[in-house]
Amino acid sequence: MKNFQYYNPVRIVFGEGQIRQLADLVPANARVLITYGGGSAKRTGTLDEVKTALNSNGNREIFEFGGIEPNPEFTTLLKAADMANVQNIDFILAVGGGSVIDGSKFVALVSHLKEEDGTVSRDKAWDALTSSCKDIDSAVDLGTVLTIPATGSEMNAGGVINYSERHAKLSFGNPLAYPKFSILDPIKTLTLPERQVMNGIADAFVHVMEQYLTYPVNAKVQDAFAESLLRILITEGKAVKQNPEDLEVRKNIMWTATMALNGLIGTGVPQDWTTHMIGHELTSLHGIDHARTLTIVLPSLMRELKDSKKEKLLQYARNVWDINNDNNQFTDDDVIETAIAYTEDFFKALELPINFADADLDESAIEPIIKQLEAHGMTELGEHKANDLQVSRRILQRAAKA
Ligand code: NZQ
Ligand code: ZN
Repeated sequence: MKNFQYYNPVRIVFGEGQIRQLADLVPANARVLITYGGGSAKRTGTLDEVKTALNSNGNREIFEFGGIEPNPEFTTLLKAADMANVQNIDFILAVGGGSVIDGSKFVALVSHLKEEDGTVSRDKAWDALTSSCKDIDSAVDLGTVLTIPATGSEMNAGGVINYSERHAKLSFGNPLAYPKFSILDPIKTLTLPERQVMNGIADAFVHVMEQYLTYPVNAKVQDAFAESLLRILITEGKAVKQNPEDLEVRKNIMWTATMALNGLIGTGVPQDWTTHMIGHELTSLHGIDHARTLTIVLPSLMRELKDSKKEKLLQYARNVWDINNDNNQFTDDDVIETAIAYTEDFFKALELPINFADADLDESAIEPIIKQLEAHGMTELGEHKANDLQVSRRILQRAAKA
C-alpha cells in the first residue's frame, strides 16, 4: 500500500424524512441560494420540503436558481454565480443530482472571480476550470440534498463542468468544494425514471472499477471494500430493476454510490480514470449520458489492457464474480474473458449500452474523440501513464467493432 492522507469532512445525514434537519444544518441567519435542475425538484415536491424546513426556524433569506442542466453548463453557472454576488449569498444549497451539485460547487468556487464591473469574469472562471480550480483559495459554503445516487459528488470535493461551445467537459477538485453536509433521503430516489436509476448504478460501478482495476499493492482494506461495493451494486442493481418500489434496496444503492467515490477506496492505491476521461469526450461530442459512456468504454478497456491488469482482473473474476479456477481447469485468459462477459451481461440486464452500436455510433466517431483527448491533454492516462492516444484509439476501435 502507498502512503496516504485521508480527509473527508462531509457530514452525511441519511434516511427518510431527514430534509427537515436543514433547519439546524444551515446557519440560521444565512442568505441561502437554493440551486436545482430542470424541474424534477419542483415537480416532486422536494423543493417545497426544503423551503419549509429552512423557514421553520431562524431568519434566513431564501433565493432560487433553477435550470442547471444535466452535464452542467459553464455559461448557466456563471449566471448563478452573478446571482450569488448580487444577492450577497453566503450559503448555497444544491438540491439535485451530480450535475446540480457539481455546478453548485463551481459557483461556490468562482463567484469571487469578478470583473471590475462586479460581474463574474468568464475568462477567469475558464482559466480556473482549465487548471482544475486547484488554486482557488476561497469559496461560498455549500450543502446538498441528493436526489439521485450516482456520482458521489455529495461526499467529495470534485466536479465536472461542460462548456458546449468549446466541446469541453472538464473536471475540477478543491477541498473548499467539500459540502458542509449532504442529506441522503432514499425516498427521493423513488421518482427517478428507470434510466436514471440504472445510470446511477453503472456510474458507481465504474467509479469502483477505476480505483480497483490496476495492479495489486496489497491494500487489503481497499480491495475488499471495493469488491463488496461491486457485489452490492450487482445484486441491488438487479433487485431494483425487478422491484423499483423496494425502499431497502434504494437505501443500499444510495449509500453504496456515495461510498464508491468519497475517497476511501482510492486511498493508498493506484487508480486508472481512462474510462471516465474517454467517456467525458463521448458526452461532450455526442451528448450521451455520463454513465452510458462508461459502460460503452469499460469492457473494451478491460480487453485492451488485459495484460497490464492481469492480476487484478483475475482477482475481480474470483472475488466479484465467483469464477473458481482452483484446479487450474481454465486458462487465465478464459477466466478474464468470462469476467468481462459477466460484466457486459450485468450492464445489458440494466439496459445499458456496451458498445458503439448500442449508442448508434460507428467508427467515424473515433478520430474526433482522439482529437479532443489530445486537446485536453489526456495523453498519458492510466495507472502507468501508459494509455497514450494509440491505446485510447485501440480501446475505441474495440468498442466500435464489438
Ligand atoms: O434536471 P432535473 O429536472 O432535476 O432532472 C434530473 C436529470 O434530468 C433527473 N433527476 C434527478 N433527481 C431526480 C430526477 N428525476 C426524478 N426524480 C429525482 N429524484 O435526473 C437527470 C440526471 O441528473 P444528473 O444530476 O445529471 O445525474 P447524475 O447524478 O448522474 O450526474 C451526472 C453528472 O455528474 C458528473 C457527470 O460527469 C455528469 O455531469 N460526475 C460527477 C462526479 C463527481 N462530482 O465526483 C463524478 C462522476 O464520475 C461524474 O463525472
Ligand atoms: Zn462517473
